[in-house]
Amino acid sequence: MASPIYVFDAYGTLFDVHAAIGRHREAAGPDADRLSDIWRTKQLEYTWTLTLAGRYRDFWTLTADALDFALARVPSVDRALRPKLLDAYLVLDAFTDARNCLRKLKERGRRTAILSNGSAQMLDAAVKAARLGADLDAVLSIEAVRQYKPRPETYRLVTDTFGVGPAEVVFVSSNRWDVMGAGVFGFRTVWVNRTRAPDEYGKQAPTAVLPDLSRLPALDL
Ligand code: LAC
Repeated sequence: MASPIYVFDAYGTLFDVHAAIGRHREAAGPDADRLSDIWRTKQLEYTWTLTLAGRYRDFWTLTADALDFALARVPSVDRALRPKLLDAYLVLDAFTDARNCLRKLKERGRRTAILSNGSAQMLDAAVKAARLGADLDAVLSIEAVRQYKPRPETYRLVTDTFGVGPAEVVFVSSNRWDVMGAGVFGFRTVWVNRTRAPDEYGKQAPTAVLPDLSRLPALDL
């Protein structure tokens, strides 16, 4: 079989979602991490609940709404940080192992892409700020189908764009629920378990599990 196409989730997998609070940790105070966790959890919850309800609002709006909820839930964090945290979210740091992994895959002539819940504008800003553009063949936003992962329509964007079957795609995500959805669609999957979380979705097991992306280019998938 031809070499697979490597498709990456963006937030949490290539980009560190907690880097926004990291840049303002001192100003945010002792509850900084709690705020960041609630922000991320609510952001994802809104994608699932809206999609289940048959509604769509773009990921940037949901990211701002989730931050508003987190700031209301954690009143010790100064609300004046809101615009700074949102600005920081547009230019999140890429994990070093992610940067190296993409570079190595490209050196080996592999095709690479992002498939993300992020709006096209957010992804463009993040990819530019992290200077990852040269190592990516495509940056796909679910905006095109106005539904969020793990709906199968979102993963189909990959097979439609590249004109391949699902088995020719290796989908890489740090989000276990995203790995579940990608596996159900028929992708080979790699779960990047950055936080050493316990496994879940047992019946939809990943093809491989890695602690970060440094060994991915060497894996025979
Ligand atoms: C994404 C979210 C799931 O980038 O992190 O699609």
